[in-house]
Amino acid sequence: MSKKTSAISGFYRLSIKERVKKLREFANLTDEDQSVLEAFGALDAPTADRMIENVVGTFPFPLGIATNFQINGRDYLVPMVLEEPSVVAAASNAARMARQTGGFSASTTDPVMIGQIQVADIPDLEAAQKKITEQKANLLKVANAQDPVLVKFGGGARELQIRRLETIMGPMLVVHLLVDARDAMGANAVNTMCEVLAPLIEDLTKGRVYLRILSNLAVYRLARAEATFPAKALGGSKAVMGILKAYAFAQADPYRCATHNKGIMNGIDAVLLATGQDFRAVEAGAHTFAATREGGYQSLTYYEKTPEGDLQGSIELPLAVGLVGGATRTHPVARVCVKILSVKSANELAEVIASVGLAQNIAALRALSQEGIQTGHMKLHSRNVAIAAGAEGEEVDQVAQKMIAEKRVRFDRAQEILAELRKNPT
Ligand code: MEV
Repeated sequence: MSKKTSAISGFYRLSIKERVKKLREFANLTDEDQSVLEAFGALDAPTADRMIENVVGTFPFPLGIATNFQINGRDYLVPMVLEEPSVVAAASNAARMARQTGGFSASTTDPVMIGQIQVADIPDLEAAQKKITEQKANLLKVANAQDPVLVKFGGGARELQIRRLETIMGPMLVVHLLVDARDAMGANAVNTMCEVLAPLIEDLTKGRVYLRILSNLAVYRLARAEATFPAKALGGSKAVMGILKAYAFAQADPYRCATHNKGIMNGIDAVLLATGQDFRAVEAGAHTFAATREGGYQSLTYYEKTPEGDLQGSIELPLAVGLVGGATRTHPVARVCVKILSVKSANELAEVIASVGLAQNIAALRALSQEGIQTGHMKLHSRNVAIAAGAEGEEVDQVAQKMIAEKRVRFDRAQEILAELRKNPT
């Protein structure tokens, strides 16, 4: 059997039906998977009603496929859900460049989450700290007894750390419970363990436990990815310089860095959504991680020029994602998306997501430091504007092309062009 390739040239030129056909071949999708994709709104009422409260409908988003990704020697077609044009094309384009030098190399730490137990009103902080430390083994044992399935799969509570905080409400101890969540995102397992430990910790500290909840700053659950982007593919040494200058700008200025990291999250969130993850958790963790770096709020990516003049890029961020539990299992389209990725573990999913974040960032920096993003963006956007203005059939491209030529992609101009076209058909 020939090796599967995600380098499908002209994927964007195919009809939706033809794209699904290619995807089906690549990911061995079944008739049922295909019908889920083609249903355009495959989240049925009973499933939606079970997922959240007060359901009145569902809210479909476009699902696109980023091509060309090669990560740790394996080819991936990457599902992305988002409303913003250009993002899928940009990720595919950057992945095509990275492919020329062997694609992305990605790795993860063990999937260790942090649970926090806040203890206040402690009469003797030193004594309390000592008591918790003495009882560490027992506390971990009690925590693990809550989740025999996780323990069976090689996960579970691993460590206890005690931190002392000076707060506006006086001193507090915060107990961190470190839990290896394996293929789960881990929120349920961690929160349950923290709640179970709370009365024991109150007993030991003679204090009062308030919050028992996981931290989204998952610094022990990091994903990393790196790739070399050939100068030639990027547009030459000037393009490399432009990207390095853009990177330096982000590192020096939080106003720019917020947008720089937002661009990274464009790609990351899109894969998180497609696979039914808690994207708010990852967003919170990513930005806080960026903010706790030395030197203040920093880029999640790093760049340097190689001795050959190419661009070496890397990314590191906390990525708490899961394959068991949550919407990943209940949402029918998310299930198909996980199948398309064919990832075997939450860590492998995190490696794909980190690679997409890096691809997204380099594509944005390259465009911004050269022609600007509006050219490409407006090309894609112009058709939407034409349709919104009432263009139909061939009129759509005619109106769109005229707006692009005039560099005026606006609703009012689309209406004028359409009216002229209809008055004087060519
Ligand atoms: C737009 O959604 C994302 C960008 O602003 C990212 C960036 O500026 O790096 C293009």
